[in-house]
Amino acid sequence: MPFDVARIRQAHPALAEGYAHFDGAAGTLVAEPVARAVAGVLGGAVSNRTTAFAPGRRALAIVDAARAAAGDLLGADPAGVVFGQSATALVYTVARGLAGTWEPGDNVVVTRLDHDANVRPWVQLASAMGVEVRWAAFDPATGALPVAAFEPLVDARTRVVAVTAASNAIGTVPDVPAIAALAHGFGAVVHVDGVHATAHLPVDVAALGADYYVTSAYKWSGPHLAACVAAPAQWERTAMLKLLPSSDAVPERFELGTPSFELLAGFTAAVDFLATLDDAGTPDDTGTLNDAGTLDGAGVLDGAASRPRRERVLRSMAAVHSYETRLFERLLDGLRSMPAVRVLPAPAGGCPTVSFRVAGEDPATTAARLGDQGICVFSGDYYAAEYFTAMGLRETGGAVRAGIYHYTTADEVDRLLAAL
Ligand SMILES: Cc1ncc(COP(=O)(O)O)c(C=O)c1O
Repeated sequence: MPFDVARIRQAHPALAEGYAHFDGAAGTLVAEPVARAVAGVLGGAVSNRTTAFAPGRRALAIVDAARAAAGDLLGADPAGVVFGQSATALVYTVARGLAGTWEPGDNVVVTRLDHDANVRPWVQLASAMGVEVRWAAFDPATGALPVAAFEPLVDARTRVVAVTAASNAIGTVPDVPAIAALAHGFGAVVHVDGVHATAHLPVDVAALGADYYVTSAYKWSGPHLAACVAAPAQWERTAMLKLLPSSDAVPERFELGTPSFELLAGFTAAVDFLATLDDAGTPDDTGTLNDAGTLDGAGVLDGAASRPRRERVLRSMAAVHSYETRLFERLLDGLRSMPAVRVLPAPAGGCPTVSFRVAGEDPATTAARLGDQGICVFSGDYYAAEYFTAMGLRETGGAVRAGIYHYTTADEVDRLLAAL
C-alpha cells in the first residue's frame, strides 16, 4: 500500500504554516488527535487517581491506557513501563537506581556516539561510586559503532553497557542485539537510548536485548513525556527514593508525585496515530474522552481497527522506514552533489538524519540562513557532545542537522537543497 503522506500531513494542521521541518530529531509537530487528547483531559472531568468516583477512575484508566500503548509501541510488558518528564530524567533515575550496588573495580561502558543523556548520568554515577568508565569509540571515517569496539571493554566487572539504538547526529544504527549479547554474556545490564530510533524504526525491546529502553514521545508526534521500559523483575532490582505513603510497587515506585494525565492521554493518542500510518483512509475524528482513558475512535481507521495495535504499529513503522529511506537518499544525493558541502560520514541503513557543514560558513549561520527561508534545521552538537569532540568539530560549531520525518515530502527536500 502506498505511503499516503498527504493524509498524514493533513493530520498535522501546524504544517499549514508552511515551514519545512527538518528538525524532527529535536522534536516533531504533534498529530492533531494528540492535541485533541491532551485538550480532552484538560477540558474534561478528570480528577486525581481514585476508585471512589468516575473522574478518579478515569485518571487511573488514562495511566493504564498509556502503559498499554507504550507496551504496544515497543513490544514491552505494560507492567514495566515507567513514565517520566524526559528521557534525560529517566536515565538519571535508572543510573541512580543501579549505581548503589557498584563497587570499586567495577566498570561501566558508554559510547562516544551517544547523546549525552545516555553518557553523562553513567559517567557521573561511576565517578561517585569510584567505578571505571570505558569508552566505546565509533569509526570517524565511517560513523559506524561496531560490536568490535565493545569487545575489549566488556568483562566480568562490567555492570552496565549504555548504547544508543540510533545516533541523533548521524543516524548510525549500531548492532544493539550483538552488543547486548556480548554484555549479557558477562552479566552486564544493557541500557538502550531509543529516543532517536523510535521515531524511525519498528522497535522490539526483546529482540534488541535491551534491559532498559528509553523513548521520548515528542520525537514521534506526541507530547513532552518520556517512557522507560524494562521487565518488571528488572525494575524490582532498581532502587528508588520515594515518599513514605507513595506506592513501592513497580512501576509506580519510579513515578514521583502526580503524573500528567493530559500528557499520558496524548502519549496514547500518539501511539494510536503511529499505528495508522501505513493505512489508506482518514483517521476517524469522532474522538471524545471515554472512561477507558482514550479518545473514542481517535486515530483508528475504518477496517483497520480489528488488527491488534502492536501489529499495526509494526507495519506502520516498517512503512515509515521505507518511505523515509527513499526521501533520505534524495537528500543525501543532493547534499553530496554540492562541492561546498561536507557530509559527515555515516553507514548506510541508518536513521534518516544527516549532519553536514558548508565550506566557509559556520553551522549556526547556515541554520539561520535556512531558517530565514522557513526551513527548520538545527546546528551545533545537539547534545551529541562526545561525537563532535571526537570529530574535532565541537569547538567550531558542530554541524548542521537535517532529518527526514514521515511527514516530510520530496518537494521539501528539494526546497532545502535549493536554499543551500
Ligand atoms: C538520542 C537522544 N537521546 C536522548 C535525548 C534526550 O531526550 P529528552 O529531551 O527527552 O531528555 C535526545 C533529545 O534530543 C536524543 O535525541
